[in-house]
Amino acid sequence: MTTTAIVNIGNLVTNDPELGEGPLGQIKNAAIVVEGDKVVWAGPSADVPATDEAHDAAGRAVIPGFVDSHSHLVFAGDRTEEFNARMSGRSYSAGGIRTTVAATRAASDEALEANLKHHLAEALRQGTTTFETKSGYGLTVRDEERALRIAKAHTDEVTYLGAHIVSPDLADDPAAYVDLVTGEMLDACAPHARWIDVFCEKGAFDGDQARAILTAGKAKGLLPRIHANQLSFGPGVQLAVELDAASADHCTHLTDADVDALASGDTVATLLPGAEFSTRAQWPDARRLLDAGVTVALSTDCNPGSSFTSSVPFCIALAVRDMGMTPDEALWAATAGGAQALRRTDIGRLSPGARADLAFLDAPSHVHLAYRPGVPLVSEVWRAGARVA
Ligand code: NIG
Ligand code: FE
Repeated sequence: MTTTAIVNIGNLVTNDPELGEGPLGQIKNAAIVVEGDKVVWAGPSADVPATDEAHDAAGRAVIPGFVDSHSHLVFAGDRTEEFNARMSGRSYSAGGIRTTVAATRAASDEALEANLKHHLAEALRQGTTTFETKSGYGLTVRDEERALRIAKAHTDEVTYLGAHIVSPDLADDPAAYVDLVTGEMLDACAPHARWIDVFCEKGAFDGDQARAILTAGKAKGLLPRIHANQLSFGPGVQLAVELDAASADHCTHLTDADVDALASGDTVATLLPGAEFSTRAQWPDARRLLDAGVTVALSTDCNPGSSFTSSVPFCIALAVRDMGMTPDEALWAATAGGAQALRRTDIGRLSPGARADLAFLDAPSHVHLAYRPGVPLVSEVWRAGARVA
């Protein structure tokens, strides 16, 4: 197999503390060797082994490709009017999801897939090399199943979110909808998905319903993750830890007991600052979680309602400016943290054995992602050892 050395890297983030400085394992004047789809060597340029080919990073920084562990990309239409109204003072509510459900049901498979591919290409150009995505805008057996089938053609990290809101068709009978989500819909969806998720929130599903839904999913072999404590305090975070969910997502309204629960378990707290930005809500307190020893991930939550951004760099800038994270912590959260939220060890790092997913930055280091917000610094992207953008 051909070996390629990427040389002249101004600053390399490996996320392997044994390879370089600090928790990010940073190496200045670095090189990295790729063989097939894997990293086989990383270290100082001066020590790079002989390879078949060389690629000049020209002093740019190189980081692991972003792992966006939370998005909702199978949808049709947009919610410009709702956003406009919010920016004139109206508040966000889960009810807006119905608008996207109607548009998604009316769209063809081809239209849904084209929209998904459009957003994936957008994310890739901004350095995202792994993404998770969910159903949740179909809410019928047919529409949830096809959303997951379409998603599965583009990623292994597919999440069944039939429990996004109670389907408008069964608005008067939420118990019947929970039966559907845990019965016929689950049977149809489980073969396409790795994960099961539930929106545990007032106006969506309460703690008992969420427990029943996630437990049914686990019995079918799906792994749990939860939309928890986004709009208000509630049982979601502690339920996530109780069920050993890979991730509790949002974590905006947390009691001390919620923070303690997260610190005591293996559930990652995934923060989604695009949502607070686009709904003008209070920021999740990343500092409080990190100081308590909780593992934090950062993701986009890309969806047409609460967070219509595919940009991980934008989320990093918000997290650093407004959520108390250092640039190093934010970079780790958006790469290794995302990998941990997906229970993956092959991505989110650039050490031997990892998949060769890299983003090159037109900058001396990753700190510029927050220091130069809104500037398209990602200038080249590799996934599984091949240049893709
Ligand atoms: O993660 N919170 C629930 N679901 C999405 C929003 C979906 C929508 O508004 O369309 C979220 O923010
Ligand atoms: Fe979400």
